[in-house]
Amino acid sequence: MIKEKSYYIDTYGCQMNVHDSEKIAGILKEKGYKPADDISQADIIIFNTCCIRETAEKKIFGSIGNTKKYKKVNKELIIAVVGCMAQQEGIQEKIQKSYGFVDIVLGSLNFHNLSDAIDSVLTKRKFFAQIEKDAKPAIKEDMPIYRTSGVNAWVNITYGCDNFCSYCIVPYVRGRERSRSPQAVLDEIKRLLDEGYREITLLGQNVNSYCNDMDNNWNFAKLLEEISKINGKFRTRFMTSHPKDFNQEIVDIIKQSKNICKSVHLPVQSGSNRILKLMNRKYTREHYLELIDHINTIPKVGITTDIIVGFPTETKEDFEDTLSLVEEVRFSNAFTFVYSKRSGTKAAEMPQIDKLTKKKRIMELVALQNKITKEISQDYIGKIEEILVEDTNPKIKGVICGRTDNGRLVNFYGDKKLIGEFVDIKITSAKSSALWGELNV
Ligand code: SAH
Ligand code: SF4
Ligand code: F3S
Repeated sequence: MIKEKSYYIDTYGCQMNVHDSEKIAGILKEKGYKPADDISQADIIIFNTCCIRETAEKKIFGSIGNTKKYKKVNKELIIAVVGCMAQQEGIQEKIQKSYGFVDIVLGSLNFHNLSDAIDSVLTKRKFFAQIEKDAKPAIKEDMPIYRTSGVNAWVNITYGCDNFCSYCIVPYVRGRERSRSPQAVLDEIKRLLDEGYREITLLGQNVNSYCNDMDNNWNFAKLLEEISKINGKFRTRFMTSHPKDFNQEIVDIIKQSKNICKSVHLPVQSGSNRILKLMNRKYTREHYLELIDHINTIPKVGITTDIIVGFPTETKEDFEDTLSLVEEVRFSNAFTFVYSKRSGTKAAEMPQIDKLTKKKRIMELVALQNKITKEISQDYIGKIEEILVEDTNPKIKGVICGRTDNGRLVNFYGDKKLIGEFVDIKITSAKSSALWGELNV
């Protein structure tokens, strides 16, 4: 009997990449590959990479290096490096020079050609690379997708980014902003709901600028409104929102619709107007706080954010402005990052901050946010929350978990059969951001 070939995908980075990996899996399944039980057993290993921070890159190169040993055992093994890091200038050369055992390099705009790349390597046994130079390639609508979650489905609404925040590599590795047609998005959502998915997450680097690049009368608020008209019980989330394009219309639709979650991820990045300007974020602290006031009119809304500390030239006062904004807004959660210099970006040319100061600042910020998250969590105790059960808890046997409408993770003991169902849970305790509860029967 011929052994079925298997694949292993190692995914780094954001939700966009997680979803791209589902498309990569779709291509591999169509080629007759099945998922490998373990990386050491795979016939093809794909690294779907990220380069948002230096730490991500270092980790990926370490993992690529670790696969060399598998090639000694399995001479037919194919190793591919795809995605954002691969799209960066000079990376293909670095891989060829220092990681000569890698067979395929495909940029983030080229992974749909994985099938041809594999065929080429199998027949010619020669290195294959393809890095798209056109920053605005046409959207591929016909890609196979192999989704592994039966509850939540990712749906792209835009690709790329035009914002060029001065610290960020994404516009250089993901190309210009391109919106998917509203029809394609709505058709996909309806199909997914018919297939039994209960939660849809709309994906884009800046979902609020949806259709700005198109000659039609659509925008993000209109898309949400159309989604809210779809019948059936399901949830819609979206990420990421950019404060410069977020508006009252979106707040109103969230308020009115039962299918749009009361959860907004609105990255602020800094509380200092001077730093926001240097970051090229195109809004002020005051504008951001005004948006927060509007969003807070949504009952029980959960607001989360991203913050960078140690941006070039950030002074003690700038950092204090960030701390005071965090205190004022009281985010339910914040993703906090130490600024990482990315070559080719504007901020890489600015005077940099020393490592120790960055470390001290991130620790102070994390401590403050943890305190706030914990305090907010306490308010849930004793309340009944509707949860969409999503998965088993990977660490504790018998525990299943899901989220509240506003995005809080809730753990409770229950039957796996409940995955995919909406259930009422009474919250009994809170551990920092995660809540614990019991079925309310
Ligand atoms: N498009 C989204 C986020 C993309 S990247 C947005 O604009 O909000 C996710 C987060 O990574 C960013 O919000 C930012 O906080 C962080 N990030 C991006 N570049 C970074 C860098 N060079 N160093 C540290 N953090 C960075
Ligand atoms: Fe990066 Fe800014 Fe685009 Fe987000 S909006 S991906 S932070 S350039
Ligand atoms: Fe995402 Fe990293 Fe690319 S954050 S868009 S995978 S650089």
